[in-house]
Amino acid sequence: MSSIHLGKIDTSVKFNNQIDCKNYLVDGELKNWEGNTSNVYSTIYTENSKDEVGPTLLGSIPDMETDAAIDALNAAEKAFNRGQGAWPTMKVKDRLKCLETFAGKMKEHREQVVELLMWEIGKNKADSYKEFDRTVDYIYDTIEAYKKLDRKSAKFDKQAGIHAHIRRGPLGVVLCLGPYNYPLNETFCLLIPAIIMGNTAIFKPAKHGVLLITPLLKAFHESFPPGVVNIVFGRGRKIASPIMETGKIDVLALIGHSTSAVALQDLHPNKNRLRLVLGLEAKNPGIILPDADLDLTIKECISGTLSYNGQRCTALKMLFVHESIVDEFNTRFAKEVDKLTYGLPWDDGAFLTPLPEPNKPAYIHELIADAKAKGAKVLNKKGGKLTHNYSYPAVLYPVTKEMNVYHEEQFGPVIPVMSYKDINEPLDVMAASEYGQQVSLFGRDIRKIGPLVDVLANLVCRVNLNSACQRGPDVYPFTGRKNSAVSTLSVFDALRSFSIRTFIAAKDNSYNNEILDALMDSKESNFVNTEYLL
Ligand code: G3H
Repeated sequence: MSSIHLGKIDTSVKFNNQIDCKNYLVDGELKNWEGNTSNVYSTIYTENSKDEVGPTLLGSIPDMETDAAIDALNAAEKAFNRGQGAWPTMKVKDRLKCLETFAGKMKEHREQVVELLMWEIGKNKADSYKEFDRTVDYIYDTIEAYKKLDRKSAKFDKQAGIHAHIRRGPLGVVLCLGPYNYPLNETFCLLIPAIIMGNTAIFKPAKHGVLLITPLLKAFHESFPPGVVNIVFGRGRKIASPIMETGKIDVLALIGHSTSAVALQDLHPNKNRLRLVLGLEAKNPGIILPDADLDLTIKECISGTLSYNGQRCTALKMLFVHESIVDEFNTRFAKEVDKLTYGLPWDDGAFLTPLPEPNKPAYIHELIADAKAKGAKVLNKKGGKLTHNYSYPAVLYPVTKEMNVYHEEQFGPVIPVMSYKDINEPLDVMAASEYGQQVSLFGRDIRKIGPLVDVLANLVCRVNLNSACQRGPDVYPFTGRKNSAVSTLSVFDALRSFSIRTFIAAKDNSYNNEILDALMDSKESNFVNTEYLL
């Protein structure tokens, strides 16, 4: 382990695998980009060839223009061909084969993608491997979930003298935009179910965590028919906005901020035809009851507030502690925060790691300064210690409604703590909040917990008992109320979100029944079949 202390730069650290990506994938072709490119930097400082220390150049990506983005849209549209394309009408089992091929090829790039996750977004090694492996598992789990769904649909129903063969069909062309904090996992959790259901897609990677997609371009190219997956690089305003303006997008699949989602949605001329699959911001609270087991609570609050430096939509972003235990909680919690190890992402045991957004440390610092000016204190000694790419986690107390950190989704290492006397205080804050993703409830007394869960379940979409908030396991529903989400994602729910129920119906008479029998025997239709997918 190169012992990195906050603020010190290890000049022996180097990035040796610069990637200058000139390719993008449109209409089944890995095209060569000859226009402008943008450099991709890591906020991890290294020494360059001129012996200057600064952000590390990792490579470059095409800075694509609107024309090229529209080409990608046209390719996706052609492959879907208003539902008449080969991909949306293909046998499920043939689509699944493409996905299996892709997952196999993707696995070959594990080490390279993990290295890029660490340099591009500063995710620690263990979590970077976890993100990669979890994504591969997600693909295989999605394949199995679709087989299950298909088996359930491989039958006829009969009601009121009408036979029905009901399946789920694709919606059309999907624009897929992912976030920087899970540039692989969250994007693929949109893209994979979208294409498996027979939709076609245009995918633009996030600003940070973009180079790590480039090793996978070839795998996409070799695994899917032309136009099914189109991958473009560049700025949202030159790519996503003009694509939305055409009105040809059927599904906007985005994990990110509601302001981007709303702006893009507004550009679409036929909003009634636009389905939204959105994972947005949140301000998940931790509520700590007087009888909470403080050892367990502190451990969960550390991981809940600070895993990946708090840059998770599911992170705990506000702690409400009962006034009877707030002093003890604060003292112990602040001590534990100061014990956390900061290091470079590949250092063994590094829990806190550099922030990938160059302006994030300054933003976190502003939140701290604002809170301090309005009466809060930083409870931990190292809290707010600032470097070029980090701001050491600060525990702020007492936080009030007047402070910016009370309202804003900090998405970084600062932990606001409020005390409460009456449980209705945090409940009222949650009810008035713009967000409604999850909550963590710490306590033991079932007479308190029981009625509380009844209310909390209506304020958010997951109540975590004595544990931090999280998305996983990926088979569980991941969604939110208010500004936190639209649609539900999970291995199974995502298949539903990216599809629509559609069926063939026929009156029960000998004329129709003969046709249906013959159809099933002949295998003339990929839709009408009762084959059991193994
Ligand atoms: O950023 C939001 C992610 O979906 C959080 O996922 O709870 O597994 O870290 P996670």
